[in-house]
Amino acid sequence: MNRNTDFIPFAKPSLGKEEENAVISVLRSNWLTTGNIALEFERQFREYVGSKHAIAVNSATAGLHLSLEAVGIRRGDKVITSPFTFAATAEVVRYLDAEPLFVDIEESTGNIDVDILDKTTRKNRRIKAIIPVHFAGNPCKMDRIMDIARAHSIAVIEDSAHAFPVRTGKEDRFAGTIGEAGVFSFYVTKPITTGEGGMVVTDDDNIYGRILRMRLHGIDRDVFRRYTNRRASWMYDVVAPGYKYNLTDIAAAIGLVQLEKAKRFLERRREIARSYIKRLSPYDFLTLPRYSNESAWHLFVILLNLERISISRERFVDELLKRGIGVSVHFIPLHMMTYYRKRYSFKPEDFPASYRRYMRSISIPIYPDLSEKDVQYISQSIIDIGKRFYRPH
Ligand SMILES: Cc1ncc(COP(=O)(O)O)c(C=O)c1O
Repeated sequence: MNRNTDFIPFAKPSLGKEEENAVISVLRSNWLTTGNIALEFERQFREYVGSKHAIAVNSATAGLHLSLEAVGIRRGDKVITSPFTFAATAEVVRYLDAEPLFVDIEESTGNIDVDILDKTTRKNRRIKAIIPVHFAGNPCKMDRIMDIARAHSIAVIEDSAHAFPVRTGKEDRFAGTIGEAGVFSFYVTKPITTGEGGMVVTDDDNIYGRILRMRLHGIDRDVFRRYTNRRASWMYDVVAPGYKYNLTDIAAAIGLVQLEKAKRFLERRREIARSYIKRLSPYDFLTLPRYSNESAWHLFVILLNLERISISRERFVDELLKRGIGVSVHFIPLHMMTYYRKRYSFKPEDFPASYRRYMRSISIPIYPDLSEKDVQYISQSIIDIGKRFYRPH
């Protein structure tokens, strides 16, 4: 199959006139930084997901850092996450001089293996937090994770960077609202975007209060109120050495529009996932994700059955690129990265499921603006490559 049209990018934000107009109106207001629009974004977001508080931040990385700080993580504490994640999830643990304790994944989903998690929490008394990562937008087994965490008084901070707006668990709550805190990303490839940005949600007043302060220099009152409330004075106090993690009104204005479109975006991602599964499931050189309405389908990852094909994953990726299809790999496990490998003397096989899954993974395009024609072309290209390099039984 030949295709003479443009390259299909791996990811693309869905932005329209509404976002443009929202940004222009913020620019014209002259209030560009955190103000009324960011407050409104927080209000609408917390109502959307049904959490008591929402705090807008300039990245999910910032949100994860603030959440760990707010639950009291400090030097020498251990924080569990899986190595099958982006750098952000573990680096924030190191920001606080605490130690990430990696727990391997279920190879089939990429999510933390709750049986290994259970065993690990029984053995180690210094574990103070767990950061489950909802890989590709498919929520982790949160009921089990919460039971394990509660049994040992461990805080749960959900890395919900990929998982919005989807519900899970016996209480059918939004992913990200089940642990003590949850963090969403509005990075440009994510389910909704503000360019860069994030949101922390929590029902806990103490966590909320601490994050609010630490988000902006440890100041006891935010700058906006200081300048707009007529009775407020110029006086402020710094009560802790905080950070500079606030979200601008420019970004929040985009976020408000994207929030309105979130359900539609999810519907289209679901359609694409169903279409890929229908088209690709007859082929035994691939393992596909199981369709689930719980997933946000942030990523669509095909797993190569390497015993059924005569080329490596790298070569398969090259063949897709040659056909004008942008792809990626999620994730190169963190225990294989120089920093973690050196610091903790890890070998690739130390987390066998993460390693195996990584070696066979290819993430293919999935986003609301991807057309059905593109989905068909991408699927057919995968089938053609698989057939060409097929290794029979
Ligand atoms: C699983 C995961 N967690 C956290 C992040 C960090 O998000 P942000 O770029 O908003 O800081 C990412 C970003 O790609 C991610 O994939």
